[in-house]
Amino acid sequence: MTTDIQQQITALTERLHHLNYQYYQRDISEVPDQEFDQMLAELARLEREYPQFVHPNSPTQRVGGTITKQFPTAEHRYPMLSLGNTYSEADLREFDERVRRGLEGADLHYVCELKFDGVAMSLTYQDGQLTQGVTRGDGTRGDVVTSNVRTIRTLPLHLRAEGPTQPSEFEVRGEVFMPLPVFAELNAEREANGEALLANPRNAASGTLKLQDSAQVAARKLRFYAYSFLMPGRNQFPTHSASLEALQAWGLPVSDTWRLCGTIDEVLDFVHEWEKKRFTLPVATDGIVIKVDDFRQQELLGFTAKSPRWAIAYKYPAEAARTRLNTIQYQVGRTGAVTPVALLDPVPLAGTVVKRASVHNANQIAALDLRLGDLVFVEKGGEIIPKITGVDFAARPADAVPIVYPTECPACGTPLIRPEGEAHFRCPNERGCPPQLKAKLEHFVSRKAMNIDGLGAETVGRFFDLRLVTNAASLYDLPAKAHELAQLERMGEKSVQRLTTGLEQSKQVPFDRVLFGLGIRYVGETVAEKLANHYRTIDALAAASATELAAVPEVGGVIAESVAAWFQEPENRQLVEGLRAAGVQLALTGEAPQPVSDRLAGLTFVLSGVFEQHSREELQHLIQQNGGKITGSISKKLSYLVAGDKMGPAKREKATELKVPIITENELLAMIPTGFDATDAVLDQMLGTPTTEAPATSDEALPPAPASNPGQQGTLF
Ligand code: IVH
Repeated sequence: MTTDIQQQITALTERLHHLNYQYYQRDISEVPDQEFDQMLAELARLEREYPQFVHPNSPTQRVGGTITKQFPTAEHRYPMLSLGNTYSEADLREFDERVRRGLEGADLHYVCELKFDGVAMSLTYQDGQLTQGVTRGDGTRGDVVTSNVRTIRTLPLHLRAEGPTQPSEFEVRGEVFMPLPVFAELNAEREANGEALLANPRNAASGTLKLQDSAQVAARKLRFYAYSFLMPGRNQFPTHSASLEALQAWGLPVSDTWRLCGTIDEVLDFVHEWEKKRFTLPVATDGIVIKVDDFRQQELLGFTAKSPRWAIAYKYPAEAARTRLNTIQYQVGRTGAVTPVALLDPVPLAGTVVKRASVHNANQIAALDLRLGDLVFVEKGGEIIPKITGVDFAARPADAVPIVYPTECPACGTPLIRPEGEAHFRCPNERGCPPQLKAKLEHFVSRKAMNIDGLGAETVGRFFDLRLVTNAASLYDLPAKAHELAQLERMGEKSVQRLTTGLEQSKQVPFDRVLFGLGIRYVGETVAEKLANHYRTIDALAAASATELAAVPEVGGVIAESVAAWFQEPENRQLVEGLRAAGVQLALTGEAPQPVSDRLAGLTFVLSGVFEQHSREELQHLIQQNGGKITGSISKKLSYLVAGDKMGPAKREKATELKVPIITENELLAMIPTGFDATDAVLDQMLGTPTTEAPATSDEALPPAPASNPGQQGTLF
């Protein structure tokens, strides 16, 4: 019987590996997403029941969930060197001459590859299994980030037994990067939540790899492109190009943009060809890497102290253009943040025509000494939105006009405020400032919130301007105005019908998404889901104090204050009543999770610090599943303080003073029935429902979760 199970687990594991390969490397969906999900959930179930048969590289590992307090470091078997850089074509010709001299005129080929702008990564495969991922570090030692790397969906955890024979152990190097659409989405979400934006996709990728919770890493959808193969002893392949082909055959992602070139002129053609074309790729690139193809020739050429003599990087100049700054527009966002946007004479730059550029904030305007009428330099780095990097002072017209930052909201005239520590000015008129109200409505109807068919951002904005709607609840009065709506230009009866149906259907949208749609500051999708799952009804949520809210895992103090303050506002309470009257879901339906035991009934716990065996969220689950309660603050009534690593001394002192017992994670685990693994609950949660998300940090809202289903990822490559 158990061997049967073992076979079943192996078969499912292999099937899922195969489907992942087909989907990610070959763009083929062999089975519907739902079927894939079912298989994955079935595998997770079997693995829970029979943990002894779990393959270390099981496809279920992709969801992350491993918490690493501090990354151990490992020495690189082969040092990770850097490449000589150049911005000039003449240097490339010189490189070619040097190489040819070094090889005494022997015949030679180069491989040209794109230089991906991410984070270098060294991966070890042993017997076809991914066993380690190490960052470049200082080139000699790097951080071991294996559990984070495992969440990269395009990366095979176990290789296909196809193509050339695989050495029992080898290393693959390549670039981990954040695809541009993922980066854009992450920043849009951060902006919507009033958080600081990430500078560029490279920083986003490197920051993500350093996250301690691999489930968060999974949510950020990193990718990987392999560009080197290394093995002990003599390389089994004659050429770099043959090794790239083998890596591809084994299932590793290799960008198919590389090309074999026989002469330096062909190399330069490649360089020119990709100068503009690279902007059509969903990954940031900053140049071309040129490598001698033949491994023996590479060996002959050898290395300098820092870099190989057989390779060079050609970097494209940062794309910059000079154009006129006509005016500054001040945009007011959903949370009232005022962002200056420069309107420019249209100018071609990095594959698009730029008419607008960001100037970030008032400090930036002063720092650049911008004036209207100036000729300014705009650049597109890894960033999506071009930015103004400087002024051509020599060309400053005599009548250039100094920029006076508004002191009042450009939309409603309310005096702007600048909260301490924030770079942005804000319009505090949350209830009356039209662009804020409009943006709130747009957010409510957006795809990730109520997703109302027939009511896009533009339409809802139009209705708002026409005073047909004022807030989210008033949307539900629209069907009563059908006649009036049908008279509008571009509306017609059909559109009105579609809108009515869309509104009706939105009444089935689950509570967590409604909560997200309310647009409470700092409540992104993930936090909304945590809060909805914890409180289950809006009334329970509204009744919670900031202290209680802060005790919900993943909900930090800032979010807690923001939520509590939101429900204090009479207008917000009125909005909730309006939505209730409309029939919108303000509670989770379905059964609340059933407790596993009542072993901890009547006991309250505070969890503090970082834990060894389980994440804080897992422990919280475990306590609740066994009838216990979690709270945020230490009081005399508290049953236990569960102390993890790095717990603050103040907590320990307070608990000691109030005679609250302090226990360890293991002591807590010993209090509950054995045979129940907390990770089960978390896995269930992650794999069980289509809207699940990986845990996010307390003060960040992340983009949608690692879909357990590859189909939901979209085909980026
Ligand atoms: S080969 C001996 N190929 O560029 C160095 N590197 O300084 C071998 N990079 O951070 C590196 N794309 O991670 C190589 N196609 C590519 C690359 C690439 C990006 C990065 C690499 C490193 C830097 C090289």
